[in-house]
Amino acid sequence: MCGIVAIVGQTAVAPLIVDALKRLEYRGYDSAGVATIERGKLARRRAEGKLVNLEKRLNAEPLDGNIGIGHTRWATHGVPNETNAHPHFSNDVAVVHNGIIENFAELRTELTADGYEFTSQTDTEVVAHLVSRELKRGADPVAAAHAALKRLEGAFALAIMFRGDENLIVGARNGPPLAVGHGEGEMFLGSDAIALAPFTNSITYLEDGDWAVVRRDSFNIFDIEGNSVERKRQQSLSTSFMVDKGNRRHFMEKEIHEQPEVISHTLANYVDFTAGTSKPLDLPFDFAKIDRLALSACGTAYLSGLIGKYWFERIARLPVDIDIASEFRYREMPISKNSAALFISQSGETADTLASLRYCRKAGVPIGAIVNVRESTIARESDVVLPTLAGPEIGVASTKAFTCQLSVLASLAVRAGVARGTISTETERVLVRALSEAPRYANQVLKLDEQIEKVARELSHYRHVLYLGRDTNFPLAMEGALKLKEISYIHAEGYAAGELKHGPIALIDENMPVIVIAPHDRIFEKTVSNMQEVAARGGKIILITDRKGAEQASVNTMETIVLPDVPEIITPIVYALPIQMLAYFTAVFMGTDVDQPRNLAKSVTVE
Ligand code: F6R
Repeated sequence: MCGIVAIVGQTAVAPLIVDALKRLEYRGYDSAGVATIERGKLARRRAEGKLVNLEKRLNAEPLDGNIGIGHTRWATHGVPNETNAHPHFSNDVAVVHNGIIENFAELRTELTADGYEFTSQTDTEVVAHLVSRELKRGADPVAAAHAALKRLEGAFALAIMFRGDENLIVGARNGPPLAVGHGEGEMFLGSDAIALAPFTNSITYLEDGDWAVVRRDSFNIFDIEGNSVERKRQQSLSTSFMVDKGNRRHFMEKEIHEQPEVISHTLANYVDFTAGTSKPLDLPFDFAKIDRLALSACGTAYLSGLIGKYWFERIARLPVDIDIASEFRYREMPISKNSAALFISQSGETADTLASLRYCRKAGVPIGAIVNVRESTIARESDVVLPTLAGPEIGVASTKAFTCQLSVLASLAVRAGVARGTISTETERVLVRALSEAPRYANQVLKLDEQIEKVARELSHYRHVLYLGRDTNFPLAMEGALKLKEISYIHAEGYAAGELKHGPIALIDENMPVIVIAPHDRIFEKTVSNMQEVAARGGKIILITDRKGAEQASVNTMETIVLPDVPEIITPIVYALPIQMLAYFTAVFMGTDVDQPRNLAKSVTVE
């Protein structure tokens, strides 16, 4: 998870940038770097590892200059070394970047053919070269940055500095956050308000697709077409390491919107986007040698495991036993020595999950933990920690931790498939490529907020809601129901669509909205039959599908939410977002306490 800082200042900025980077170090610490314009030239210091190494470097070789950009890196493309550390240069251009440039391979080929030499393995370097090429073609710095931004696909935040203009930094945001900080005769850019807290608490958050021209005494924000846009300036409450809501109403809303970024960082920890491979892991067991995998967790984390079961069994042909932790710990399940156990938990403190872990520890099987809080008890008691890189999740209803858990599980299933020889190198490449697209699709889904809000307004008038899905969309249906009930207090149930006629169909009438999660996949027709059964009984259907599904559904729906066509493996990750947004907006309409719903707590450390 990279952090970005930029300052157009009055005094030497390098020490200030390092100070701000310290507050962003939670976002990544593989390497760090600072660049300034020193006596008319671009100059930089970079160092592998933690920020302290960069500080040592700067102490030995200080950097002068009143304008600068800085970066703390969580490696996605290219190993964490000094060469891959940001800022990256191309002639008169310096760039820092957070996120993934998805079309970097194609751009790299194009720029190489144009004579540009790449010195790093990063995707970021294409941005520096693109801007530099526009300058060479005669564009001014702002026009050059704009033209380059138009070529980029993916989710990213950028800060760009130009030799020859010591009063200009261009910032851009498409996915990962970026905020402008307003000072007196100086301006700042930062990945979050916490980074800028020592300098200013007057903040303007860029929105997706925005780019900003930042000078000492002015800033202008534009959309991708180059039209000027207005964004609200606000007082940030950030002090020290406090996490705040940014410009969102609730933490849950903020966390839903962080997903493109945190999914990409989590995936990057487990797969190599450049090579199209799953990364080798230092596990206390060998996927090729075990004959069963036990998964155990609670609530939303359990539902992520249920989806994981489909992936492990389908991709790696590895049988999975999955249990709700509070059941697992008491049902005295015999555990084969030739198995491994994985425990999934956002907090890493959930009492039942921890007790299940200890049960497996006694049984002598190797233990892995998929956790968000690395210092947690579950992490400490495991043989290996497989982190989700969701960042602090404050909203009680889990959102970004869930999609990050899914990201880890999908990547692990691919790794297991490779180890067990159940997928070819080509299939691995296709699956990794599909995973790399998840952040971009997630970003597209966030843009459906107006339609989803409208559906939520309708939903808030009902007392009961049913969710249906097949395959990995069955656990997702349960997650949808869980999200809705915990924050809106509307009673909701999630069922396997095929189970409908074995009981729940008795509930269907005009007072029971039925949310059907059905991308156009190989079993889509079966789900359509279930929708027909609902429609025939006066049930109101809200269909969440893709373009083809919407065309072929042949059932009258109350509303159809059309998502992008996505590769099958990332369906649950992408379809999780409308489910969360639906619950969120419904709760807002109901006027409940979204971030702290009644009777719940974020970390459940009692049975
Ligand atoms: C639901 C939710 C809970 C948690 C569950 C497990 O939105 O947040 O169901 O998923 O309490 O918590 P962790 O993941 O911390 O073990």
